[in-house]
Amino acid sequence: MRKVDFLVIGSGIAGLSFALKAAKYGTVLIVTKSNEDESNTKYAQGGVAVVVDKDDSFEKHIEDTLIAGDGLCDKHIVEVVVTEGPQRIQEIIDYGTNFDKDGTGVYDLAKEGGHSEHRVLHYKDVTGYEIESVLLKQIHQNENIEILTHYFCLELITQHHLGIHVDKATEVINCYGIYAFNTELNDVEKILANVTIMASGGAGHIYSSTTNPVIATGDGMAMVYRAKGKVRNMEFIQFHPTALYHPGEYPAFLISEAVRGFGGVLRRKNGEEFMYEYDKRGSLAPRDIVARAIDSEMKKSGEDFVYLDITDRKKADILAHFPNIYAKCLSIGIDMTKDLIPVTPAAHYMCGGILVDEFGRSSIKNLYACGECSSTGLHGANRLASNSLLEAPVFAHRIFEHAVANFMNNVIPDNIPEWNDHGVTQSNEDILVTHNLRETQKLMSDYVGIVRSDFRLERAMRRLYLLHQETEDFYKGNKVSVKLCELRNVIQVAFIVIKSAMARKESRGLHFTTDYPNHSEQLTDTIF
Ligand code: SIN
Repeated sequence: MRKVDFLVIGSGIAGLSFALKAAKYGTVLIVTKSNEDESNTKYAQGGVAVVVDKDDSFEKHIEDTLIAGDGLCDKHIVEVVVTEGPQRIQEIIDYGTNFDKDGTGVYDLAKEGGHSEHRVLHYKDVTGYEIESVLLKQIHQNENIEILTHYFCLELITQHHLGIHVDKATEVINCYGIYAFNTELNDVEKILANVTIMASGGAGHIYSSTTNPVIATGDGMAMVYRAKGKVRNMEFIQFHPTALYHPGEYPAFLISEAVRGFGGVLRRKNGEEFMYEYDKRGSLAPRDIVARAIDSEMKKSGEDFVYLDITDRKKADILAHFPNIYAKCLSIGIDMTKDLIPVTPAAHYMCGGILVDEFGRSSIKNLYACGECSSTGLHGANRLASNSLLEAPVFAHRIFEHAVANFMNNVIPDNIPEWNDHGVTQSNEDILVTHNLRETQKLMSDYVGIVRSDFRLERAMRRLYLLHQETEDFYKGNKVSVKLCELRNVIQVAFIVIKSAMARKESRGLHFTTDYPNHSEQLTDTIF
């Protein structure tokens, strides 16, 4: 058993930013299910959208975010994130993060879809890697922070574990920490905390094609939902328009939107540029529009991809801005300075998540959520590119201020039991888990993708129900394993996504259904 002041689940920009601040006030434990740097943050290529240029303004960034969000952003939260963002990013720079500058020492700001200005700070095409490395270096120097790697969080501990009935109507659900599976010792540990921060990232792996690393299985959202916490707007899955088309590669390699911001255009096989037929912003329209246009082009042509063309730009400039993408493409025989890049949409970002207020508080007491697993209201129905690396440190700071002011008052009961796995056996049929995961991912890609319909959603739900039953039976009879628990979480999140999509009787942002192709007159959040 362990007990700490602040427990952080996840080691991306959200969790690490919070930990560095909270460590001045108490003990911090970061629990992460893989290596310490394995997170969606590490793979972010494009950068951080933030107002730093003199020609830019908060008003413009707010307006762009609201337009991309298609009516469903919380305007107050958008204002908070955009206006507090520069300070938080300055802190990340002060920790030692490099962002590219031009020859005169001015930041080389990139442009991405939906942005009216160049405002994306980046470090070549490996911005997330740079930020993650710098934050981890700071973490290692801090004696008040411990990191447990390869610990998989199984469940939040609430009064349910004290034998008290908890359901969705329970007025106050308390979080006292987590049960975590120590994968090296094959044992479940109880970790108690005054305050728990869920910063567990996204859920790209509910789909068979995603840009996310394999850890992105929606664990935090699933855990909170199982503990009877609230989630919001989970139907809004952002498909990145341009993942590299390379059959057999899993996860898919991202071709940053910054490539289109740098002049890249989307073309048909015959070389025609097609995006202006869909939107006056062409290849730099917001992601929901570009992904749908590509999907429609692929359906018409029968091809599995369209082309991205950046060959107009000078080789030296391409190499300076996109060394990582260049090297990857070259490794499969595509020289992006001369050849067109085959691209296809892939699941990329969960715009909904654990419902939180402006201080990052979830509906469960003493549990905060931050980063991709949370739904703050910033993204609405479609996230503006590169806004997530801004949202995470802004909310990490807000959570930090709220949590340090309150954590001393939180009482943890002393009779919380250990994890109980009496009567279960070690499975020798893990392949069934793999099969069920593949089936779930395939049904999500087939029926709950970029274009949806009632018929497809119902079909998906029926199939998912069977997989859910099989998996729960397996879970009840077998010792926990990471694969099995990830499968449960994937199924749980897939279920909420389908249920949310069924509830939204309109098309808005990332949720497009052929049964209700227009906006409804009412603006509603989907909350479960
Ligand atoms: C990209 O580089 O295109 C991804 C950036 C983001 O998702 O915000």
